[in-house]
Amino acid sequence: MQVRAIRGATTVARNTEDEILEGTRELIREVVAENGICKDDIISILFSVTSDLDAAFPAKAARAEGMDDIALMCTNEVPVAGSLRKCIRLMMHINTGKTNGEIKHIYLNGAKILRPDLVQQRGIQDAVPYDEKCSTTDFDKPGDAPAGEKIRIAIDGPAGAGKSTTARKVARQLGIPYLDTGAMYRAAALKATNEKISYYDPEALERMLSATDISVSFDEKGEQRLFLDGKDAGDSIRTPQITKAASDIASIPAVRRIMVEMQRKIASRGSIVMDGRDIGTHVMPDADLKIFLTASEEERANRRYLELAAKKQMADKEVIKKDIGIRDRQDTERAAAPLRKAEDAIVIDSTNMTPEEVVQAIISNLDLHKDRRKCL
Ligand code: CDP
Repeated sequence: MQVRAIRGATTVARNTEDEILEGTRELIREVVAENGICKDDIISILFSVTSDLDAAFPAKAARAEGMDDIALMCTNEVPVAGSLRKCIRLMMHINTGKTNGEIKHIYLNGAKILRPDLVQQRGIQDAVPYDEKCSTTDFDKPGDAPAGEKIRIAIDGPAGAGKSTTARKVARQLGIPYLDTGAMYRAAALKATNEKISYYDPEALERMLSATDISVSFDEKGEQRLFLDGKDAGDSIRTPQITKAASDIASIPAVRRIMVEMQRKIASRGSIVMDGRDIGTHVMPDADLKIFLTASEEERANRRYLELAAKKQMADKEVIKKDIGIRDRQDTERAAAPLRKAEDAIVIDSTNMTPEEVVQAIISNLDLHKDRRKCL
């Protein structure tokens, strides 16, 4: 008999029995499926959880998966600075005599964290998984960071760089709200379009906005819903026409003033991840962490194309690329709060990175930042 060990890890958003057991079951199923393991081949499973998870014993999930006669053990990890939060890890020992011998370790929901020191020294793409981590920090409800630990993260960058996907995931991992400021400009553009107001008429736009109610609410997962005059705007703000119009009206200083005021008010309430074009430079110049997320124009156009295709909206890749180029120029060349990297922002080029890798690069940088602050 030849014994091999397979590693797996996942993270959960909340310290609840349901989330821990469901997260663990998903992890076990993935490890088993990806490695072609038959249950009889499993010798034992060791689980460990970070110290911020105590609502359930993950081994229970293995029993629920029908692993009744397999030796199981579960331990709580010692807190380590600069680490993942709400993380469940397992090590499954299998008899490879009955499998093809190839081992695939499984990391779900951002659990393949990068080593903070390597992120700095070698660049993000070269970093390797860091698996000896856990955390002392606990954020259970959106916006409910521990007292004195308000966290504000600014993510800026051009269209299609992956800001919203990344920002949403980072916020979810930290258990804090995410504000998509682009959606606010889009909502204003939608209203101007519906009311046939010129995108280039500052006075008319200002008048319109003074009689407009744009509000956001966050559900229990910290996800944003945007309401335009009391109605959920949904996907009506995501059409190509509104995308272009949002960029047009975003160059009007009076529009920006109103939006920035609202964004700062939301930021003052507590922890937040905010993405946009001017967050690190203008809306939250004192953010704890500023990220400037970029990707090649080709890659950004490709992502936007795939996004539209997934929504069954047919589009021409060349047209998308041209539109992105126009928007980039408009956003970087406008006089009012143009898109630019804040001096103290960390640049992440996501061209060859998965969303998970970008998320972990950001979380690692946040932990580094906090560790540095503790040392001051
Ligand atoms: O998702 P995508 O990057 O395509 O766009 P978005 O973030 O929804 O933003 C739409 C437009 O709003 C951008 O092209 C910018 O012109 C403008 N915007 C801005 O000027 N400042 C922000 N903080 C956010 C968006």
